[in-house]
Amino acid sequence: MAQDLNLPADLLNRHCLGIAATGGGKSNFLNLILKQQMMRGGGCIHIDGKNSKDAIREFLTLAEQHNRWQDVRIINIDEATLSNTYNPLLRGDAEELTTRIMLLIGNGGDSFFRSQASKGLGAISGLVKRMGIPFSFADLSVLMGSEGALRYLLREAPKDTREYVDYKMFFDQLLEADRRTGAMIVSEKKLQHTFGDLLGKLAAYARGQARDVLNAYNPEVDLLQAINENLLVYVALPMLSKAEVASDFAKIFLSDLRTAVGQLQNVPPEQRPNPTFLCLMDEFSSYAMPTLAPLFEQARSANICLFPFIQTVSSLSDKERGLSIDFAQKIIGNTWNKISFVLKDPESCEQMSKIAGQALKEFVSKSVSENIGFASGQQDASMLITSNRGRGISTSTRVEYDAVARPEDFSNLKAGEGIYMGPRGVYKIRVPLLKLNQQGGDIVFPKFRMPATPGLAVAEKYHMFSATGG
Ligand SMILES: Nc1ncnc2c1ncn2[C@@H]1O[C@H](COP(=O)(O)OP(=O)(O)OP(=O)(O)O)[C@@H](O)[C@H]1O
Ligand SMILES: [Mg+2]
Repeated sequence: MAQDLNLPADLLNRHCLGIAATGGGKSNFLNLILKQQMMRGGGCIHIDGKNSKDAIREFLTLAEQHNRWQDVRIINIDEATLSNTYNPLLRGDAEELTTRIMLLIGNGGDSFFRSQASKGLGAISGLVKRMGIPFSFADLSVLMGSEGALRYLLREAPKDTREYVDYKMFFDQLLEADRRTGAMIVSEKKLQHTFGDLLGKLAAYARGQARDVLNAYNPEVDLLQAINENLLVYVALPMLSKAEVASDFAKIFLSDLRTAVGQLQNVPPEQRPNPTFLCLMDEFSSYAMPTLAPLFEQARSANICLFPFIQTVSSLSDKERGLSIDFAQKIIGNTWNKISFVLKDPESCEQMSKIAGQALKEFVSKSVSENIGFASGQQDASMLITSNRGRGISTSTRVEYDAVARPEDFSNLKAGEGIYMGPRGVYKIRVPLLKLNQQGGDIVFPKFRMPATPGLAVAEKYHMFSATGG
């Protein structure tokens, strides 16, 4: 029997895995979740794979309805006028930053050149971090392609540091004797070999609209602050128009989030987010990476609920994306709650049916040990179990775990219908349809004039170098 979804507050306290084929009512459900989170005064990050103006309007409308408009921040690398500023290279030590930026070239290509790039990047970010000044994608892309900029760093940096020694060593390796003058100059070829791949990828974030969003030294959005202040951060991913740039950006964003979560783990419990901060991750499989598995463990102790949405179970172990069965199992094992909307591929139906059986088994054994009764639905039918915490019910009922939610129950769901699986049992749910009377016209969201902070700004100085020949 379908029942109205009355989202218990603690649904949003534990990680939740959502799965849905297109058209099953996911967007409506996500809006409902967001509404609930806004109502309880909580903060969120909503990574939206759709990136349409309508979706931004809906988010703002919801926030306005709950008097939370002033808490909204938008990160939209596709359209700078519809975005606050954000710089994912401000947080973390040199090693974290290097790993973060190296996400751009993934595991593809020649491993020798990749390790060269990583070493070079480590030397640069180590030195700049030591100098204590913020830098940006634009700075990096200038440094990686210009002798003048590399020499500038050599001149400006404090000399008596380990980071300087490392950087100097890296710099010297790039040198060769000039054929005519004999002077030591940076070899174009070596520089190209070291950073060519990375430079190509950086271009998407150091130019155009993304440049205006991502290269501020004192940006409007800081993730740790957003979590601490229960802000409502909407991240628009241009998944349809620029899939690769969008998913790379999502990876970098989540790497920054992971560092922020690490910092939150070190604060006393009373300073962690309350209510639990919510992180909705639409199209999760397209930017999932193995390093995210530990994030699920860390986030829980930092009071952050992760809510990834996927379209198929197998997408979580997609080898082409560098994922594995092990990763899929970690994500499935680390999400206590699961919600499925209509599924279209048979394999996902099978898998979710198994997960439902498992969830019920755990629920039953827990209930028995708590000495609380449960009522089972009709054993044979596609009936889903409805928990009954009434007293005095015998626990001797035998339940056919496997038949609780059969594979076809997942493919037969209608728009707005779903199946919940978790420690509270297995339910069929019906999600109310949310009517949002959103306005047309201009999109208005909070913008801030941030005090200028000096940064590396080698991008600006670069013009000077090229004018004087470096
Ligand atoms: N809870 C609901 N009750 C009734 N109808 C619903 C419900 N949720 C969604 N629908 C209907 O299904 C349609 C698709 O819903 P929605 O846009 O939320 O799905 P979606 O899974 O996000 O789709 P897409 O994959 O295209 O983004 C809606 O236009 C709406 O008419
Ligand atoms: Mg949708």
